[in-house]
Amino acid sequence: MASSRRGSARSRRPSDMDPRRASQSSRRPSIDPWRLIPMDKAIQSPGSNDFNVVFVGAGNIMFGSDEGPWNHSFRFEHKLGPRLKVVALIDPAVERARSVLKKKCDSFVISAYQDTRVYKSVEEFIKNMSPREKPRAVIIGSPPMFRGTTLPGRDIEMQIMAHFPGVAMFIEKPIATGPKSELEEAFKVSKYITDNNVICSVGYMLRYLKAVQMMKQIIEENNLTVMTTIARYACAYEAIAKPEWWDKSKSAGPVIEQGTHFCDLSRYFGGEVDISTVSAHSLEWDENAGHLSKMTIDESKIPPENRIPRVTSATWKYDSGAVGSFTHVVALQGTNYSCELEIYADGYSMKLVNPYVQPVLYVRKPGDDFEQTYRFPDDDPFFSEVSNLIDVIEDIEEDPEAAQILSSFEDACKTYELTWAIRQASERSRQQKLDASKAAADKQKVKQASA
Ligand SMILES: NC(=O)c1ccc[n+]([C@@H]2O[C@H](COP(=O)([O-])OP(=O)(O)OC[C@H]3O[C@@H](n4cnc5c(N)ncnc54)[C@H](O)[C@@H]3O)[C@@H](O)[C@H]2O)c1
Repeated sequence: MASSRRGSARSRRPSDMDPRRASQSSRRPSIDPWRLIPMDKAIQSPGSNDFNVVFVGAGNIMFGSDEGPWNHSFRFEHKLGPRLKVVALIDPAVERARSVLKKKCDSFVISAYQDTRVYKSVEEFIKNMSPREKPRAVIIGSPPMFRGTTLPGRDIEMQIMAHFPGVAMFIEKPIATGPKSELEEAFKVSKYITDNNVICSVGYMLRYLKAVQMMKQIIEENNLTVMTTIARYACAYEAIAKPEWWDKSKSAGPVIEQGTHFCDLSRYFGGEVDISTVSAHSLEWDENAGHLSKMTIDESKIPPENRIPRVTSATWKYDSGAVGSFTHVVALQGTNYSCELEIYADGYSMKLVNPYVQPVLYVRKPGDDFEQTYRFPDDDPFFSEVSNLIDVIEDIEEDPEAAQILSSFEDACKTYELTWAIRQASERSRQQKLDASKAAADKQKVKQASA
């Protein structure tokens, strides 16, 4: 972690970063940032016994792509080394699954994959597995529309808990993308997870950023109360070629699918949201300012009512009284996104910039009108997320504070609820505007007719 006064490059450990006091108090779980070790410096998980894992989904999040730095299989290989045994890869796209497995078997990590069996569904795996293939963890990276409920075909968490009681789960974000009316379903799954003490981590990996944990530590050590969270997520739309992403009926919309990371981080710092206070506005595809010139998909194939907004901007109150705000923007071209989270507390500002690629944290403290800049060149939150999960499963740490799951299913349900509230609030205000324009036009017509 490197720090500098804006412009200068001196490196120092901030005085308020005493690791012994790191995670003493916490409204939400946190980790001492100095314990977040990059993959190439981390010690492989000790032990000699095999660690059986089932991967659900053979897509980008699990095996990597040009889209970004995610690739869970790679992190599991580094964390578990030769102990990793992927007993099954479950994906209805069997050819895709076979093709990624072939690449693994042609490489030096062959020992993890040489006995991996491909199945189309969890049911098929359950029917055919031998007792020695029982997993210690199931890693779920299938699309969210197929999970997060107790309904047949979209109940993978419930199936795993029924057939493998006590087996840990990792589940990608968002926890679901079904209709809003199914929100309660997600909370039902959450209750089952909690009641059965299942170790479960949800893929909000930005919580594991060193920068985020440093922000958390500054708040805790200085006993600060967050006054406001201000988040912005501006994607590079030219690089988004998945038609589903542009269709609200398929992805549930960009706030629920993508912006969710920043709504989640906002909650991580701001606390519980009073959902009844969420208000929002949108700039829609058919408004003048919403025209995009470099879309790579054919939007005319998407029904007008399902097309996504270009801007969604929301504010809300936290239960603490603090104010949250979030803006999602579909405006940038090229490939780089522009994402920021600012938080303010008495005497302090912390601004996290570019957390996906090169996180930079600007911190202003009492007694100094200038910001201190911190850079985190070798941080890997995807690895930290996996590493902490394995350590919690193996329960090897003597220090109970050491390994932590930072995003529980229940917490992720609340983020999901917030993102739905934002979408609905923006749709409500759009409808009000349309109704008002129509009423004004009707009034005008009546006036003209009677003139
Ligand atoms: N944390 C992050 O930064 C991050 C990054 C990328 C993706 N994700 C999340 O990961 C999830 C998957 O995204 P992706 O980019 O890998 O998608 P993808 O389309 O590349 O892959 C999904 C795979 O799941 C398979 N699949 C479909 N239905 C299935 C089912 N019922 N059971 C098992 N597999 C099924 C598909 O055939 C496909 O191979 C999404 O929730 C996404 O939001 C998170």
